[in-house]
Amino acid sequence: MSDSDGLAKREHWGSRVGFIMAAAGSAIGLGNIWRFPYLVGKDGGAAFVVIYLIITLFIGLPVMIAEFAIGRAAQKAPVLAFKALNVSPFWSLIGWMGTIAGGFLTLSFYNVVGGWTIKYIISSLTGLMEIADAGNSGDFFSSFIGQSYQVIVFQALFLAITMGVVIGGVSKGIERACKVLMPTLFVIMIILIIRSVTLPGAEAGLKFYLSPDFSKLTGETFLDALGQSFFSLSLGLGIMLTYGSYIGKEEQLPSSSAWTAGLDTVIALLAGLAIFPAVFAMGFEPGSGAGLSFITLPAVFAKMPAGMIFSFLFFLLLFFAAVTSSMSLLEVAAAFAIEKFHMTRKEAVYGVGFIILVLGIPSATSLAGGPKIYGKDFFDAAEYVCNNVLLPLGSFLASVFVGWFWLPQAIKEITNDGKLKFGWLNTWIWCVRFVAPLAIAYIFYAGLKW
Ligand code: PHE
Repeated sequence: MSDSDGLAKREHWGSRVGFIMAAAGSAIGLGNIWRFPYLVGKDGGAAFVVIYLIITLFIGLPVMIAEFAIGRAAQKAPVLAFKALNVSPFWSLIGWMGTIAGGFLTLSFYNVVGGWTIKYIISSLTGLMEIADAGNSGDFFSSFIGQSYQVIVFQALFLAITMGVVIGGVSKGIERACKVLMPTLFVIMIILIIRSVTLPGAEAGLKFYLSPDFSKLTGETFLDALGQSFFSLSLGLGIMLTYGSYIGKEEQLPSSSAWTAGLDTVIALLAGLAIFPAVFAMGFEPGSGAGLSFITLPAVFAKMPAGMIFSFLFFLLLFFAAVTSSMSLLEVAAAFAIEKFHMTRKEAVYGVGFIILVLGIPSATSLAGGPKIYGKDFFDAAEYVCNNVLLPLGSFLASVFVGWFWLPQAIKEITNDGKLKFGWLNTWIWCVRFVAPLAIAYIFYAGLKW
């Protein structure tokens, strides 16, 4: 079978488990292990977790089902999908926005952090623990990100690994890698949790993480939770739409979506369980923002017996999570080039990879200082625009499209032409028609601040 152009028979996932592992691989990423815990720390602990869960169930999951349905019906990558469905060209905006603005921009900063994980895997074994033990993990991090050439080298390495897998194709590259990496990730996570919760003094962390104080909620909490839910579930950029386009017609979309969103949520919750008890047990503060994984945690590991091994395992986990997500971002951009310009997969991956590397350079170098965009460096600006603007906007448009302009076809797609019973169909319709668009619009209005 050739997938070298859009006219050849379209490649599909090899099996249901393989597809769910690939979708979960996309969803589970830096968002779950790096970002979710630091937002919990910043946005007030357990109360944020509760809001996050509600948003994921009533907004994230329904939007995911919608994206899968569009993708499977169209059998095309996002930019061409709406044309294939014969709907107004306006909706192609979802595809363009997702692929060009979202896919490329997200991957450009995602790779930078992906590169950090490689640096930290190596450093864990070569002296990071001594540095962190002396209280210098913050200096270590700032001097690393201050040397742009190092950041770029690791970023390029990370991207090269991602490209290596995506060149292999949908089932032989991405699916195969995810089927090995995702279970391994889970095992590492369990080892880290056991270590963390058995440390003396772990209870304070469990309390912070598990007992909500709703007085801490602000408009920003909701915006953060919403942006995080979309980011973590890989929604709004056409990723799940693309993955949906490789799903066979006999597959059950609602249950596959529930599995994907469920695994993603469980891993985010488990990441908090691995991190907070250890952070509190070792006497650190949880609210250190983006530095939680890269500054606070090395210091936490350095104080543990055999900390080097746990540090190594943690960053390996982070790397596995990141690389299975970056594959999905690259796949969307590559699928676009394959279908739109009739490139071979190899040409598409090389071409797109090169553009993304170049686009990532401002993100990488901005960490060392340099021009700011209205007070934010390029990296923060790219992250903000993607998570708080493009992802919610893409998800808003996808739910409005499905809920108001394409509902009968969507229902046909989701129920496999009426053959499949979906008990939550009416709830889902409510969510995509009203709950998701209104909540996104409101949260936007209330919480959007540069
Ligand atoms: N879901 C991934 C994560 O949690 C990130 C991602 C976002 C991947 C959007 C693809 C699209 O890290």
